[in-house]
Amino acid sequence: MHSYGYRANAVLTFSLTLLAVMCAMASLSDNRNSPSPSAHVQLRSLILNVTSFHRLSLYVVSMAMNISADLQSLFTWNTKQVFVFLAAEYRTPKHSLNQISLWDGIIPSKEHAKFWIHTSNKYRFIDQGSNLRGKEFNLTMHWHVMPKTGKMFADKIVMPGYRLPEEYR
Ligand SMILES: *[C@@H]1O[C@H](CO)[C@@H](O)[C@H](O)[C@H]1NC(C)=O
Ligand SMILES: *[C@@H]1O[C@H](CO)[C@@H](O)[C@H](O)[C@H]1NC(C)=O
Ligand SMILES: *[C@@H]1O[C@H](CO)[C@@H](O)[C@H](O)[C@H]1NC(C)=O
Repeated sequence: MHSYGYRANAVLTFSLTLLAVMCAMASLSDNRNSPSPSAHVQLRSLILNVTSFHRLSLYVVSMAMNISADLQSLFTWNTKQVFVFLAAEYRTPKHSLNQISLWDGIIPSKEHAKFWIHTSNKYRFIDQGSNLRGKEFNLTMHWHVMPKTGKMFADKIVMPGYRLPEEYR
């Protein structure tokens, strides 16, 4: 009885060690392949609306866009899911990075990783105080890969060179 229990324990320890080694190898081999995702955003409309609120200028940006992306290369057997979001990023005198999420989604599998979506900004692109007329901004596609084992990793694609209108309504 005693030795049987001991053996079972030893076997369990061994398999746990093996599992740990396999997981380590999995995340190692996963880090080696370098994914090459692509993203493209076509702006369909971009409207800047300025209103006054307690003597502050409130800038509200409405945009309609067609987001297309191919994130299939982020998926390996070790990928659980991918969280993705598109952000408008711009500089103001106060902050070197202002980031506004325009759209986000969770991609559950490789079959869903190549897509396009025609959407308007889900979260309002709003700024108070700093002047956003003619402001340059980048559209950045960020992703977080949640693996089955190992560490989560994140990366992004920057699409620079967008500009808010000079005119507002
Ligand atoms: C701009 O914002 C004001 C206040 O929210 C609103 O009344 C007006 O209709 C908006 N104009 C446009 C073109 O969206
Ligand atoms: C969005 O872009 C994709 C890829 O560029 C294209 O195939 C699709 O037709 C576009 N959809 C709309 C509504 O423009
Ligand atoms: C926008 O992208 C360009 C080119 O990648 C970069 O130099 C710049 O710092 C970015 N701007 C912001 C506000 O992140």
